[in-house]
Amino acid sequence: MIQTILYFALFNLAIQMSCVWCTPVTEIVSISARAGEVTVIDNGSNIPPGQKRNQGSLSNGWSWQNTGLLTHGCSGSRIHISDCYGMQLSSKTNENLEHDLPPDAISRQRIEIASGQKGVAGETHSFEWKYYLSPETGTANGFFHLMQLLNENPDGKVQNGPVITLDARNNKVYIDDFYNQGCSGSSCPSISLSSFVGRPHYTESRGKQLLKYEVHGIMGTGGPVKFGTYRAAVAGMTASYAAVGDFKQLS
Ligand SMILES: *[C@@H]1O[C@H](CO)[C@@H](O)[C@H](O)[C@H]1NC(C)=O
Repeated sequence: MIQTILYFALFNLAIQMSCVWCTPVTEIVSISARAGEVTVIDNGSNIPPGQKRNQGSLSNGWSWQNTGLLTHGCSGSRIHISDCYGMQLSSKTNENLEHDLPPDAISRQRIEIASGQKGVAGETHSFEWKYYLSPETGTANGFFHLMQLLNENPDGKVQNGPVITLDARNNKVYIDDFYNQGCSGSSCPSISLSSFVGRPHYTESRGKQLLKYEVHGIMGTGGPVKFGTYRAAVAGMTASYAAVGDFKQLS
């Protein structure tokens, strides 16, 4: 019994980054240990005037942003994440939307958790987390970030915003390197959506590598790494459910 867990290996903020997404190294067959209780952290309502979304902090210093349904504890028997956060977004293009966007901006829905540590030039930081995307989650032809490495200080060509992302779009899960420093377009690592989302079985005892990406270059400074579900609200999207957690900063 297994699902695809996105297993993050190594992140080097600001100067280089290297990550590997795998199925779990040790498959846990028993599902009884999964955290049972599901409590709502935020349901996306009552976004204060002038704010794009609701936001808050977790006890470990990481932070969350939400326009959908964010829970502590996850629902789904296949999810083997002990300290689990559930992220649910509506399929409706007029629900769970960010507020207060510029008039020409595409509508978007967002649930993300961000590292407390931000990028510092010359320093290396490593993070680890687990990520599960439910098999009912489909893609559309609009951006859909499952992970982002962000820059908060423009540095030459690298503007504020995403630098490297892991995206789900048009039935693929792939790396988007915004400044083409390590790959560009279809040369970037990708796998089919179906091999990324929840799987019925997986029996090997060693984790199977799904995606690997390594890049060195100028990526700005000051940005966190984020993970979750952040997407354009476009026709053809499905409801989305992700479970993330067990995150650690290793260095
Ligand atoms: C959403 O949460 C608010 C509290 O923040 C609560 O008042 C409201 O009833 C909730 N809505 C739903 C649909 O659960």
